[in-house]
Amino acid sequence: MIGIFDSGVGGLSVLKEVVKLLPNRNTCYVADTANCPYGTKAAGEVLRLSIHVVDFLLDKGCNIIIVACNTATSAAIDELRVRYPDVPFVGMEPAVKPAAQHSHTKRIGILATAGTVKGRLFNQTKERYAADVKVYAVVGAGLVELVEEGKAESEEVENLLRIYLQPMLEDGVDELVLGCTHYPFLQKAIEKITQGRMDIVNPTPAVAAQTKRLMEQKGLLSAVEGKVEYLFYSSGNVEGLRMMQEQHVPLVGAKYGQMP
Ligand code: DGL
Repeated sequence: MIGIFDSGVGGLSVLKEVVKLLPNRNTCYVADTANCPYGTKAAGEVLRLSIHVVDFLLDKGCNIIIVACNTATSAAIDELRVRYPDVPFVGMEPAVKPAAQHSHTKRIGILATAGTVKGRLFNQTKERYAADVKVYAVVGAGLVELVEEGKAESEEVENLLRIYLQPMLEDGVDELVLGCTHYPFLQKAIEKITQGRMDIVNPTPAVAAQTKRLMEQKGLLSAVEGKVEYLFYSSGNVEGLRMMQEQHVPLVGAKYGQMP
């Protein structure tokens, strides 16, 4: 069973790619909605919450876990790998490298949470792969909450995005990295504002590909014969998770529950 978690519905953007690339696999998704957002919390707190979710996923029988949250990857994945040495983990890599390579103007933008922008992972990646590029690292304050409320296509979202993206547009940024798994749900709104002037780099297909590679390596790739289980748990509003999942990742036979 593939375990996958996020602070909320954002990780569904990763699940969508995973079920596309790896159909007929049992999956268990956890949205830690009661503790969302992670992005404004201290790294130690995000680690504590991540451990709680991972224990729950392991209890459900998961044998590989995708940390479908940039903030939790940044705050927790190193420690999770040490704490659970037998469990393969896949994390969200900030896609700074491809953006820097593809930029013609040598100006790239990343939109992410405060936790990710401050984190070691992003800053190391930036130093390593974007040393010769101007990087706009902008915190998308308020965007996660609006996606959670089902307002991904609202005027409120557009107004915030305009504020965050305007300085990048004015300076000729031509590559925008989506550094939070909630943001692929804002793709339409972003495109409306950027009008083709930026490529939008969405790392979720690469994460699904990495999951497949790791499953192959670990001998976990065999598909389920018979009925596939798609489990969805939330520590908060299960109904909100179900609605978002049915809209973006419709799956036959999905089951829902509360995570304690
Ligand atoms: N979806 C998350 C991420 O990728 C977390 C957002 C949040 O809870 O602040 O960073």
